[in-house]
Amino acid sequence: MPANSLKIGLLGAGRIGLLHAEHITSRIPAADLVMVADVFEEAARLCAERYTIPHFVQDYRVVLDHPEIQAVVICTSTDTHARIIEEAAQAGKHIFCEKPIALDLASIDRALNAVERAGVKLQVGFNRRFDANYRRVRQAVERGEIGRPHLLHLVSYDPAPPPIEYIRVSGGIFLDMAIHDFDMARFLIGSEVDEIFARGGVMVDRAIGAAGDVDTAVILLQFTNGVIGTISNSRQAAYGYDQQLELLGSTGAISIGNNYPNTAVISDGYSVRRDLPLRFFVERYTESFVSEMAAFVDAVLHDRPVPVNGLDGRIPVVMALAAGKSLAEHRPIRLSEIEH
Ligand SMILES: NC(=O)c1ccc[n+]([C@@H]2O[C@H](COP(=O)([O-])OP(=O)(O)OC[C@H]3O[C@@H](n4cnc5c(N)ncnc54)[C@H](O)[C@@H]3O)[C@@H](O)[C@H]2O)c1
Repeated sequence: MPANSLKIGLLGAGRIGLLHAEHITSRIPAADLVMVADVFEEAARLCAERYTIPHFVQDYRVVLDHPEIQAVVICTSTDTHARIIEEAAQAGKHIFCEKPIALDLASIDRALNAVERAGVKLQVGFNRRFDANYRRVRQAVERGEIGRPHLLHLVSYDPAPPPIEYIRVSGGIFLDMAIHDFDMARFLIGSEVDEIFARGGVMVDRAIGAAGDVDTAVILLQFTNGVIGTISNSRQAAYGYDQQLELLGSTGAISIGNNYPNTAVISDGYSVRRDLPLRFFVERYTESFVSEMAAFVDAVLHDRPVPVNGLDGRIPVVMALAAGKSLAEHRPIRLSEIEH
């Protein structure tokens, strides 16, 4: 481990915490994962054992009190993020926090104020910005390769819904799932959205409807620069994780398709076929998770701005709240309505 490596504490050793632990310990030489905390101590212990992390604890405040730890990676449940950000900022730690920062704007604003006051860095986990396909689309827009963008279509379908207990505390499809697409829309177009109209239905599982959520949705976006966009979401696609995009501009178009485990195309007398796309986000977006963490470590070590800041974490929550209100009230919602 280089002497000047960034000393990191991991908070939360669940699904995404384990993924970041693996990357920090095996793919990011400039970082040193020294402690992991989880309220479920056994999860912290197993994570420490699997990734050879020197210390594990139950109480995340032990990590915040550790004088040598410079940065924390927050991978706890969403409802704890804002409070932990505030406490971590007060403890002078730089912060990487999984999306979303919180499900309400008052909590987000308190957290962002604490970060501002402490002068620490905060990066939010919108990993798709670091994916090679989406990066290339952004680059094409920046270079004017398709002229002026006119129409954006984002397709984002999960292979299967998460457990109903997860759905109940997730904040709903817009805050939990579409939030990545809201971030992607403003990142790719380089403009804010000022109005949203959403329709949704329960087509996959009635239990999702009973939990007060929808499992299928289309969201119409009006950007301030005139671009029109759609986001299509489903909690279930029988063939796997579907992540596609089309962007039409004044002099051309860009599309990206799914990533596959191999490029084999098998032809016979009946059909031409290939294997299913990569199963879910862990497989599909591995490299983007590594790159976002490497970018955070680099920003802290070299005192550079983080590539996805607190405001980038806040705006998609405003968009998600607007989509929820639109669905409930059957009308387009201006984002300014959510702010007031
Ligand atoms: N960027 C992405 O694509 C992506 C993917 C999955 C999850 N996430 C986000 O990551 C977060 C965690 O999701 P997950 O799927 O890993 O959930 P999970 O339930 O698998 O893991 C959360 C872990 O945090 C622990 N925890 C909860 N409260 C804690 C506390 N106060 N102190 C210490 N540990 C605590 C739990 O015991 C659990 O082990 C969520 O906010 C989710 O939205 C992001």
